Amino acid sequence: MIGEPAIIPSAATESPIRAEQLRKVYGSRHETVIAVDGLDLEVRRGEFFGLLGPNGAGKSTTIGMLTTIVVPTGGRALIAGLDVRHHAAAVKRRIGVVSQANTLDRSLTVWENLYYHGRFFGVPRRRARLRADELLEQFALSERAQSMVFQLSGGLAQRLMIARALVHEPEVLFLDEPTSGIDPQSRINLWRILGDLHEAGQTTLLTTHNMDEADKLCERIAIIDNGKALALGSPTELKQTLGADTLITLTIDGEPAPLAERAAALAGVRAVEREGQLVRVFATRSEGVLAKLVETATSLGLHVRDAASHPPSLETVFLTLTGREYRE
Ligand SMILES: Nc1ncnc2c1ncn2[C@@H]1O[C@H](COP(=O)(O)OP(=O)(O)OP(=O)(O)O)[C@@H](O)[C@H]1O
Ligand SMILES: [Mg+2]
Repeated sequence: MIGEPAIIPSAATESPIRAEQLRKVYGSRHETVIAVDGLDLEVRRGEFFGLLGPNGAGKSTTIGMLTTIVVPTGGRALIAGLDVRHHAAAVKRRIGVVSQANTLDRSLTVWENLYYHGRFFGVPRRRARLRADELLEQFALSERAQSMVFQLSGGLAQRLMIARALVHEPEVLFLDEPTSGIDPQSRINLWRILGDLHEAGQTTLLTTHNMDEADKLCERIAIIDNGKALALGSPTELKQTLGADTLITLTIDGEPAPLAERAAALAGVRAVEREGQLVRVFATRSEGVLAKLVETATSLGLHVRDAASHPPSLETVFLTLTGREYRE
C-alpha cells in the first residue's frame, strides 16, 4: 500500500471533477479497444453536468476512472484536486456512485441498505440513522422503509440507489444512466428528484444516452463518441452554436424518389435521406423550406400524407457532429 501524502489540496479551491487527457485502452492479445481517447473535462462546483453519447461511447469507462474503479491507461483524473490513482481512499469518501447495475443488498431492507452504507463509510450510528430517515423522506420512500429490496420495482430500486449514494454526504455524485430501463412515469419522478438535488447545490455528473434527459437536467453537456468529446456547452449553446439543422420529415403516398431529388436542390437544404415512404430533409434554415417541399411534392403529383418540422435539438446536433443518426 502506498501511504497517502500528508498534504492534500484544499477542496474549496479545486474543481470537483477534472479529467486531463484521460485515456483507457482495453487490450487483449487479439484486439485493443480505445474506450476513452484523451478526454479533457472540468465540472464546476454545484454543476449538473452530463456526458451524452450512444452505446459504447465510453461513458461508463470515464465514470469508472473518475471513481477509482477503472485504472486509466493515460492522463489524469482528479476529484477535488486529488489524483484518483494516488488518493483512492480519500477520493472514495468524497464521491457517491450509482453504477449502471443494481448493486443494492437484496438481503437487507430499504432502510438497512441506507444505514449500513453510511456505517461502511464511517458515518456514526446516530447520524447514519438520521440520514437514512431523511433520505427516505426526500426520495419518497418512507413507506417502503421496511420492505425487502427485492420487492421494489425497477424505478424505486433506482431511487434507492441514488439515496444510498448520498448517505455519507459526498461532494460529488456520479450517476451512470440512472433512468435507463425504467418506465416513463418513474423517469419523470426521478428527474424531479434530480432537479431538487441540483437546486440544493449537489455537484453531479450524469451519463445518459437520452437526449431529452440531458437537455432537461444538465447545465452543461459533453457529447462524446468513440471516447472523444465532440462538443461541450449548455444545451442551448450546443443547439445555437453548432449550426444544427432543422429536420423536416415528409411521408409520401407512393414513390418519394422524385421529391427527394428535387428537395436536395432547394435553397437552405443541406442533405436529404430517404427511408421507405419517408423523406428526411436537413435544412440550415427553417423558414419556408417546409412549404416549398410540400409545393414541390404537389407539383410532382405526389400526395403528402404527413409533414413535420423539428427545430434544432440535441439530436440534430449529434447528427451534425457525427454525420450519423443517433440511435439509443
Ligand atoms: N472491461 C472491458 N474490456 C474490454 N472492453 C471494454 C470493457 N469495458 C468496456 N469496453 C469497451 O469500451 C468501449 C466503451 O465502453 P463503455 O462501457 O465505457 O461505453 P458506454 O458509453 O458506457 O456504453 P453504454 O451506453 O452501452 O453503457 C466499448 O467499445 C466497450 O465494448
Ligand atoms: Mg455505460
